[in-house]
Amino acid sequence: NKCGPLQKLKVKQQWSVAFGTDHHRIDFGIAIWRGLFRQEPEARKMFKRVNGEDLYSGAFRAHSMRVLGGLNMVISAIDNDDIAKFVLSHLHEDHVDRHVPGNYYQAMKNSLMKVIPAAIGRCFDHDAWEACMDVIINGIKGN
Ligand code: HEM
Repeated sequence: NKCGPLQKLKVKQQWSVAFGTDHHRIDFGIAIWRGLFRQEPEARKMFKRVNGEDLYSGAFRAHSMRVLGGLNMVISAIDNDDIAKFVLSHLHEDHVDRHVPGNYYQAMKNSLMKVIPAAIGRCFDHDAWEACMDVIINGIKGN
């Protein structure tokens, strides 16, 4: 199970469908965070600054859109190694001093692996996402 050229193309194409447009992105982002906090309720404490207690607050919705924007940047660049590395190292820099525990990253992956197929239906290529999501998450974690 690898994140090769074909898998990257599929992830990129399927992401553009899942990410969608306009107001859909707000609900999509909130669903991802709700899925994460359901698995790891303590993770909410990391989001005091952006009002993690209220997913529908302006501050948290704006945060959620920054994260989706970051994910969109990585996935848009996933078929270009140089750019993908650069984007991932930037996201790594954003997170390294926050000391996000490994199980929180795993919870994020689990949530994305539920919410993305829910948004796109049968076209979801589970194996491609599984492999490429590891590349993305490991890049942000920095290993
Ligand atoms: C902030 C992306 C996973 C915790 C951010 C920002 C982006 C981002 C773009 C905004 C950076 C800034 O403007 O300063 C991502 C992506 C992830 C991911 C693409 C994985 C797909 C996680 C996980 C956690 C986390 C799993 C912990 C549960 C945080 C925190 C902030 C942050 C605490 C700062 C919030 C604030 O502004 O106070 N992330 N992130 N991130 N992220 Fe992540």
